[in-house]
Amino acid sequence: MRHLIDSVDLTTAEVDVIINRALDIINNKEMYSEACHGKKLATLFYEPSTRTRLSFTAAMMELGGNVLGFSDAKSSSVSKGETVADTIRVVSSFADIIAMRHYKEGSPRVASEFSRIPIINAGDGGHAHPTQTLTDLLTIRRELGHFDHLTIGLCGDLKYGRTVHSLIKAMKRYEGVHFVLISPKELRLPDYMKHELGDNYSEYATIEEAMPLLDVLYMTRVQQERFDDPAEYERLKDAFILDTEKMALGKPDMIVLHPLPRVNEITVDVDKDPRAAYFRQVENGKYVRMALIYTLLSWHDQEPSHKVDTFITDQICNNDRCIVTTEPVEKKAYTDADGVLRCYYCDHAL
Ligand code: NCD
Repeated sequence: MRHLIDSVDLTTAEVDVIINRALDIINNKEMYSEACHGKKLATLFYEPSTRTRLSFTAAMMELGGNVLGFSDAKSSSVSKGETVADTIRVVSSFADIIAMRHYKEGSPRVASEFSRIPIINAGDGGHAHPTQTLTDLLTIRRELGHFDHLTIGLCGDLKYGRTVHSLIKAMKRYEGVHFVLISPKELRLPDYMKHELGDNYSEYATIEEAMPLLDVLYMTRVQQERFDDPAEYERLKDAFILDTEKMALGKPDMIVLHPLPRVNEITVDVDKDPRAAYFRQVENGKYVRMALIYTLLSWHDQEPSHKVDTFITDQICNNDRCIVTTEPVEKKAYTDADGVLRCYYCDHAL
C-alpha cells in the first residue's frame, strides 16, 4: 500500500506517471467516468478548505466513486477527544482511501501508521501539502512543457506556507532548478527547508529585483491562522503585492502561480494578464487528484519507493505545532544528510 504524505514519497518517475495520467484524463474524460466505481473516498478535514476538499470530492465523483467525511473537526468525534489514530482505524473500515487535512504537523504521517487504506496528506499545519505540489507540477508542465532549468521565485510567507515547502522538495530534484526567495525576514524559509536547497537559491528583498529572472513566480498568502500575535500579522500581511507594474518587468513567457486563496498579494487587474496561470492551476488540481486517487488505488500491493530510516527517541519535538505534542505516538527521529537529528513527523531539528 502507498500513501502520499510528503511530496518526495513519489519519485520523479512516479510523478511523471501521475502527471501523464492526469493529461490522459484531460483528453479522455469519458474513459475514466467509472474508473473508481464502487470505491469510497473519505475526506477528513480538521481545518478549513474550499479548493482542496471540493477538488478531491469533484475528482472522486468524476471517477464514478463516492465521497464521505467531515469538513469541520467540531462536527466529528475529535470534539469528544478522539485521537487521530483511533479516527483513522475507524474510517479505514468505511472507505477505500482517505484525504486528510489537519492543523497539527505530522498528523497524516501518524494516520498512515494506523491506516489499512492509503492516506493522502491534504495539508498539515505549516508543514506540507503534496497534492498542491502535484497541481503546481501539472500546471508547470502544461504551461511551460518542462521542469529542468527553471528559475522559480517563491514570494510571501515562506515560513508557514506549506505549499512552498512541498514544492521546493519536489522541484529541487530536477536539473538546473534555481530558487529565488522573496519574503520579509520574519517569514523566511525555516532552517529545515533551507538545508534542502544547498547552493541552489538566492534571496531578494523586492519582487522588482527578482522579476526579470523568473520563469515561475509562486505567490503565497501570509498565513494569518499560524500567527500567535495578530499585530505581527497586520504588520506583515501586505509586505509583497504583485501588480501590473511589477508584471511589466517579467519575461513574456513566465507564469504566475498561487495556490489560492488570494487575499491582497495579487491585485485583481493582474488576472487579465495571460501569464497569470492561477485559475488554470485550480482546474489542474482536480485532474491531478483524479490521477492520484486512481493511481494509489491501483498501487495497493506496492512497497513505498521512498523510505526514511527512523529510530525511536526519548527527545521531545520542540515544535509546538507537531502532532507528537498532543497525541500519544511513539517519538521517532531520523538523521538527515547533514547529520542533523530531525522529528520524523514534522521534520524540525530535535
Ligand atoms: C493553500 C493551503 O491550504 O495551504 N491552499 C490550498 O490548498 N489551495 C494555501 C493557503 O491556504 O494559503
